[in-house]
Amino acid sequence: MTVAVGIDKIGFDTPGLVLDLVSLAKQRGDEPDKYTIGIGQDQQAVVPNYEDVVTMGVNAAQSILTDADRQDLDMLIFATESGVDNSKSAAVFAQQLLDLPVNIRTIELKQACYAGTYGLMQARDYVTLHPDRKVLVIAADIARYGLATPGEVTQGAGAVAMLVAANPRLAVIHDDSVFMSQDTPDFWRPIDRSQALVDGHLSTDVYKAMFAKLWQRYQDQTGLDLNQIDGWAFHLPYTKMAKKALDQVIDQADDRHQDLLKQRLAASQAYSRRVGNTYTASVYMSLLSLLANDDSLQAGDRLGIFSYGSGAEAELFSLSLVPGFEDQGPKTAVNRILDRRQLVSVPEYERIFSSQLLDSTVNSRSAASPRSLRAQFWGWQDGQRLYQVPKDEL
Ligand code: HMG
Repeated sequence: MTVAVGIDKIGFDTPGLVLDLVSLAKQRGDEPDKYTIGIGQDQQAVVPNYEDVVTMGVNAAQSILTDADRQDLDMLIFATESGVDNSKSAAVFAQQLLDLPVNIRTIELKQACYAGTYGLMQARDYVTLHPDRKVLVIAADIARYGLATPGEVTQGAGAVAMLVAANPRLAVIHDDSVFMSQDTPDFWRPIDRSQALVDGHLSTDVYKAMFAKLWQRYQDQTGLDLNQIDGWAFHLPYTKMAKKALDQVIDQADDRHQDLLKQRLAASQAYSRRVGNTYTASVYMSLLSLLANDDSLQAGDRLGIFSYGSGAEAELFSLSLVPGFEDQGPKTAVNRILDRRQLVSVPEYERIFSSQLLDSTVNSRSAASPRSLRAQFWGWQDGQRLYQVPKDEL
């Protein structure tokens, strides 16, 4: 008998600063409704220069890992397209900061926003072969398009950490994936740039087309139809994107089920509205948001997951919630993180946006606080990135 494998625990992190997008719209001479309704974003995370994917990933993982989990780990998979080094993986930095054993595999994965899903599938397959072991998957990113660019309203930052284990307490991942990749110039970031280049309208079209194709293939392969999918978590570059994708097929469901899917779609978009695009983490932040913001979900519900990464690659699969799943979603912790963020003005955001420490040749010190209880990027010393993590938090 094959053992059930899936997500045992899920944790989240985002920086402590936030920008109100109505203020940004006014500053940029745009209609606020374009941002909040047309694109569907209310706020976005602002990234101070002491945060990066390593700090966010470590902070997300710290919120779920116990000492026993650390001993059971065989692998740390770190998915990101905002890596901090061209050679060394973010996973090795995170391993040390999380106090993980040395006898584990560590690796960083990249394929735009899709890589977290590849990591999750690798983790699922590994644990299926080694059911007494666990894998930690971290997906973390910083979406940066640049000041006063069309993509600016869709910026954001955050991390999701997932512990993959046998007999999971949150959700079983089904072996029903359909996937595709196709070289597409919709979004990319040349090696010498810290901000993405994008053909926004092409990217939206490719996302929609890949969802429509994969949903058809998924139905052909599994024999399931839309009435048998109890909710969706989509990759959310902006919240309207998921509506555009689902609208293509929603009339395949009965009227009542359409209402349920729409209600649950809103729940799955709630965190993204407040955080923005988190690239690799986005689809799993959407899952977290659905779990936290829809009280009608039940054990046994099958959730569709649509993961998209520009360039382009997509995968559609499902997972089923297990009895007791309600106790595993860190709803209170996530709401606390979001509610406690400090609002910054547009000029403050612009200053912070331009204060990243990108030059490794200059010894420098970030604005990290020695009193913080978070993992922080401390600065550059002789070309090395220095981090600080409060040990009593581990
Ligand atoms: P834009 O050209 O500034 O906006 O770009 P627009 O003119 O297309 O307007 C957007 C929507 O607002 C439209 O609605 C307007 O009608 C509406 P739609 O036709 O799309 O339904 N609108 C209004 N609504 C209410 N009141 C108003 C009003 N005015 C206009 N007054 C775009 C928008 C999202 C393209 C841009 O922000 C962008 O390029 N973003 C970055 C790219 C992106 O997010 N692409 C998504 C798919 S690609 C992806 O998901 C991968 C990614 O995450 C990266 C990775 O994989 O690593 C990005």
